[in-house]
Amino acid sequence: MKIEKWPKGVNGWIMVKDNRITELCPNIFLIRGEDTSSHSYLIRGDYKNLLIDSGVDKNFSRLQKFLLTLGLKVRDIDIVINTHEHFDHIGANRYFQDYALIAAHRFAATKITVEDRYVTMYKSGDINEPSLNVHLWLENRFCFDLGNYRLEVVHTPGHSSGSICIYEFTRKILFTGDTLFAGGTLSYIGESGSVGDYISSISVLETRRINELYPGHGEISKTPEEDMKRAILNARALLRDEEGVEVTHFQEAP
Ligand SMILES: [Fe+2]
Repeated sequence: MKIEKWPKGVNGWIMVKDNRITELCPNIFLIRGEDTSSHSYLIRGDYKNLLIDSGVDKNFSRLQKFLLTLGLKVRDIDIVINTHEHFDHIGANRYFQDYALIAAHRFAATKITVEDRYVTMYKSGDINEPSLNVHLWLENRFCFDLGNYRLEVVHTPGHSSGSICIYEFTRKILFTGDTLFAGGTLSYIGESGSVGDYISSISVLETRRINELYPGHGEISKTPEEDMKRAILNARALLRDEEGVEVTHFQEAP
């Protein structure tokens, strides 16, 4: 697909006049989720356009509108990566899967493709929903080469068994899904998750040089080292059943 030239803003960045979309780095856009929906991140690559998390199903028309604002139709998205198997990150996959390759860690793919409504936290039981496909079953260290950006999958079980973070080498940024939030606030440890796995995963992330965190909910962070330390402390406190550990719960799908 031919990538069109964009009008340039300050520092060569694209100016987008919608506060729900932020260009975090050149050609990397945060599209904020609404209500229970996760954020989506769009990366306009030299070779392929890639979306990280599709958000909830009911958020799709909004996501579609924002993509159009950025000059993209649904069929222009070549790859959708799910950071994990929870409903608020995968729900709108169904609108992309006829055009794009859907990618998720294999432990997430197993739950998504068999419609495990317990682990994915879908409760609607709507049999009219088309099944979700996963075309690429990812493993740790799988890479996506987009030309201008190279993304590496880091398997980070803990929040769920199929959780991954996605590390971008040139900018040293980390897309974290629900694994790591600004301030080190914990997310709910899901049905397939484990606090022990979580601490181990964050310890692995701590060995990398990371400049910024781009999480699935809330604000981005420019203090990843502090956030990771805090997340491990919170997780250890959770294991000890201490009171006052802040854990974010996202609503379940209706
Ligand atoms: Fe989640």
